[in-house]
Amino acid sequence: CSKLSVHTLQGLKTGGEKLAMATAYDYPSAQIADAAGMDILLVGDSLGMVVLGYESTVQVTVDEMLHHTKAVVRGTKRAFVITDMPFLSYQPTPEVAVTNGGRLFKEGGCDAVKLEGGLSVLPQVEALTRAGIPVCGHIGLTPQTVTQLSGYKVQGRDVQGAVALLEEARALEAAGAVFVVLECVPQEVAARISRELTIPTIGIGAGVDCDGQVLVYHDMLGFFDRFQPKFVKEYVDLGEQARKALQEYREEVKSGTFPKAEHSYTLDENVRTAFEG
Ligand code: KIV
Ligand code: NA
Repeated sequence: CSKLSVHTLQGLKTGGEKLAMATAYDYPSAQIADAAGMDILLVGDSLGMVVLGYESTVQVTVDEMLHHTKAVVRGTKRAFVITDMPFLSYQPTPEVAVTNGGRLFKEGGCDAVKLEGGLSVLPQVEALTRAGIPVCGHIGLTPQTVTQLSGYKVQGRDVQGAVALLEEARALEAAGAVFVVLECVPQEVAARISRELTIPTIGIGAGVDCDGQVLVYHDMLGFFDRFQPKFVKEYVDLGEQARKALQEYREEVKSGTFPKAEHSYTLDENVRTAFEG
């Protein structure tokens, strides 16, 4: 199966097919999500919280994103891979954005980069696009600036806020963005943005009318329970299953019931006789 392209993915919107996206942070999660038929894998900076144990996404570095991107790319055959640009790797200037986005794209091998924000990052979106690096926008709840937003909460709940989101989405499309993530946005606002834009919208906590959906791998599989927003659906509790399996292993080690003969190697009879005397 061949790699999905921006063109093919944008065509899904035109054809009325939803885009399925999940995060992946390493080789095995990428292999599993790719084999499951995911259209897009996101190397999200949520990896800071989910796999590195940071308090927020703010501490994540370009080198960390690069390290995880390489592993995800190696585990992906078909899906389109988007990597998040971490905090302060693009905000200062368009030049900084192209330097860092260029590393993720060129050294990391991702197919596009994602950055948070609306009007304030338009020059960065334009510069990256001009440099040949496809960009995914991300508006609504933007975790990198959660302190400024005063916490993880739904954005665009009043008319002014809803109109601002619509304007940001339009401006991102005009600046060259190829997709836009809508996070924690009322479903009516996300629906209107999705109707008015040509590029696909990908929602998380933004209702069913977005052109696609994204969830964090560890959230939907039950590997992360530090907190669980309303928009998360846990499809399976693999964390609990892993704990049980590890407990069982521990007990078998302590009681000497693991390993059994079937897990062990033996000497050939003649060697054993000579060895043991
Ligand atoms: O970092 C991330 O996982 C994200 C998605 C939740 C959109 O940005
Ligand atoms: Na992110």
